[in-house]
Amino acid sequence: MQRKKITVIGAGNVGASVAAYASAQELGDIVIVDILEGIPQGKGLDMYETTPVLGVDTKVSGVNDYESTADSDLIIITAGIARKPGMSRDDLLSTNVRIVGEVSEKAAKYSPNAIMIIVSNPLDAMVYTAWKKSGFDPRKIIGMAGVLDTARFRTFIAEEIGVSVEDINALVLGGHGDTMVPLTRYCFVGGVPITKFMSESRLEELVQRTRQGGAEIVGLLKTGSAYYAPAASAVQMAKSVLQDKKRLLPVAAYLNGEYGETGIFVGVPAVLGTSGVEKVIEVDLTPEEKTAFQKSVDAVKGLVVEVDRFL
Ligand code: NAI
Ligand code: 2OP
Repeated sequence: MQRKKITVIGAGNVGASVAAYASAQELGDIVIVDILEGIPQGKGLDMYETTPVLGVDTKVSGVNDYESTADSDLIIITAGIARKPGMSRDDLLSTNVRIVGEVSEKAAKYSPNAIMIIVSNPLDAMVYTAWKKSGFDPRKIIGMAGVLDTARFRTFIAEEIGVSVEDINALVLGGHGDTMVPLTRYCFVGGVPITKFMSESRLEELVQRTRQGGAEIVGLLKTGSAYYAPAASAVQMAKSVLQDKKRLLPVAAYLNGEYGETGIFVGVPAVLGTSGVEKVIEVDLTPEEKTAFQKSVDAVKGLVVEVDRFL
């Protein structure tokens, strides 16, 4: 079987971690692209040299051009600036719309049949930017946010109740921002509803911590934002696409009538396979959940209006 080819754009904290995890999981050969000279080359070579130790056959390299990315199966976009203390994800918009617009357009030209996973923030708006600039079928463009947000929620729950993280199932809808909607009704521990394990008020505290999960890490690091969990989350999505696993994951997917919305990307449960987003799953929402989801969708729409001004 021919090895898959993965392009990772941005050799910073998230991009380098994505490449390292993807190589360690032997997902395919990896080309890391950045505008900085020497950084993608150095990190790529360093990672390549881990392969005999890890026992994986993947080639990892770093470049400053797009020719070397040609015919990739998957493009993961992490280029852009990251959040500093006091900055919201939305503050990043004007800079990152330029960067993500440029890199998605170039990468799409060299790999017209690829699937794209977007990580750069503000996430939902950047997925929209990549769609507009790449000209790709929207179901081939997927945003990473929900896997990370649910990973944070699952970690906090597992720690609290002393059960394996593997047995915690959770779902977060909406945009990747302060309006995200963690659906506690759909949270189970080994099939048992979460309410069996903790009070509603404690659960609400963990929901709040999840909403602030990105800011919590920024506050600790001070010089940047989270990257290990974001990278692992993007790689889980990558694996489902490259290996056609059909994982049902919360991702920013294009809505075409689902949830009553059309023309935007927002966090919903979706099945990921070789064609990208193969199915968006519509879950039943209570009136309160619907209101919260609508608020989140409206926030994303506000960002999209901003993006359209820059494009
Ligand atoms: P970083 O600053 O460590 O790395 C960004 C890299 O992008 C730098 O190496 C920079 O040189 C590169 N870059 C800038 N312009 C470029 C261009 N035109 N072409 C190629 N490379 C370019 O930042 P980090 O921590 O890796 O974060 C990257 C992005 O991911 C940020 O926007 C951050 O907010 C976002 N993020 C999103 C998450 C999510 O849940 N969706 C989670 C974590 C980060
Ligand atoms: C996070 O949630 C910064 O969006 C990024 O960590």
